[in-house]
Amino acid sequence: MTSAAPESVTIRQVGASLADFAGKTIRLQGWLYNKSSKGKLHFLRLRDGTGLCQCVVFSKNVSEELFAELGGLGQESSLELIGEVALDERAPGGFELKVASARVLQAAVDYPITPKEHGVDFLHNLRHLWLRSQRQWAIMRLRDGVVSALRRFFEERDFVNFDAPMFTPNACEGTSTLFEVGYFDETAYLTQSGQLYGEAGCFALRNIYTFGPTFRAEKSKTRRHLTEFWMLEPEMAFAELEDVVQLAENMIVYVVKDVLVRRRHELEVLERDLSKLEAIVGGFPRLTYDEAAEILLAHPDSNFVYGDDFGAPDETILSNMHDQPTIVTHYPAEVKSFYMKRDATGTKALCMDMLGSEGVGEIIGGSQREEDYDTLLGRIREHELPEEAFHWYLDLRRFGSVPHGGFGLGLERFIGWIGGLEHVRETIPFPRMMTRLTP
Ligand code: 4AD
Ligand code: MG
Repeated sequence: MTSAAPESVTIRQVGASLADFAGKTIRLQGWLYNKSSKGKLHFLRLRDGTGLCQCVVFSKNVSEELFAELGGLGQESSLELIGEVALDERAPGGFELKVASARVLQAAVDYPITPKEHGVDFLHNLRHLWLRSQRQWAIMRLRDGVVSALRRFFEERDFVNFDAPMFTPNACEGTSTLFEVGYFDETAYLTQSGQLYGEAGCFALRNIYTFGPTFRAEKSKTRRHLTEFWMLEPEMAFAELEDVVQLAENMIVYVVKDVLVRRRHELEVLERDLSKLEAIVGGFPRLTYDEAAEILLAHPDSNFVYGDDFGAPDETILSNMHDQPTIVTHYPAEVKSFYMKRDATGTKALCMDMLGSEGVGEIIGGSQREEDYDTLLGRIREHELPEEAFHWYLDLRRFGSVPHGGFGLGLERFIGWIGGLEHVRETIPFPRMMTRLTP
């Protein structure tokens, strides 16, 4: 290839302004996704990370050696192709490339993931390669689109991004799922939630959100659980439960609407039923725990016992009842976290869970926080949490305490729901689960 080679462009760039590129000679760089041959023609499907493009090699347009080399290339070989853009409405990106010359960077042999069906474990062992396949490509781009929309939502509302530490001295969401790590001469835990730090942040900056990885030693092997997952947690000063519920609802409506535009193609690749997402317009149905309990107690498929937290099957029943997410509030205080403020009866927590539609279950958990020093200290003692580790947290109630609250959105569960995916493990580049630490 000479120095006069045309500048490299991406398949996405060409697709975005087809008229400008029609008839032009361009250079594409990518990997061979698949290939078929018919006499004097090779059809190379090139994947360049931004999209897919059919590239046609006609024997009379290239040398005999190159025609043979391209015809023998293995899946995922890396290559550069130069050719003319020919518009074609039926083609995936709206155009084809008529190949004039090519250069193979590396000829791959025996790529292990072929177009045939593979088992889930096989694919997860090859996650570093599996990410290249179109479905995984669409999921990763959907994840990116969701994260951008979330950040934009908060930025537009003047929330400040405030990062919480990963190493923590104390538990936030119960001591049973803590990952313990050596920290010089001390013991530390990987954070289960950024919330407690977010509370400090909202007294300094008013409205904030933390966003980062969180860790839970979940021994459950369900389709909803990872040991490392990302959580986005807004926290607002001078806010009550109703403000928390409103914010959560507005956020979900905003993000769903946004990805329907900006990640529509990816949702189509995933064969997502878009009408289910188009139904998410706000005015989410609401139930109190007691109302939800009544439904479950009357339901033939539920083993629910009044007073318990809802199990996954219960959440599925409740979230299947409506085409929008369902908000459940006022759970019995005993099944919820120590930091939640209680209602006037002292028996229910001022908390909210949001259950996604289509049976997916909890995607958000939040609450108003207990703002009174003595009450909170009492709760820390009742839960037998180490008081010293919460000294700083109690300070927030000694110096200018105000009503405040927020929630946590589980990013992977949210993406799983938006993408209509069976299992959260496909929504994160390298999932961590009880039975998986590699690659
Ligand atoms: O309901 P959770 O435990 O709430 C909290 O951690 C609060 N501190 C949040 C807050 O108020 N700032 O977790 C919040 C969300 C859940 O609704 C779920 O979506 C997700 O985090 N989540 C998980 N996602 C994947 N794998 C796991 N093991 C998860 N555990 C929780
Ligand atoms: Mg929860």
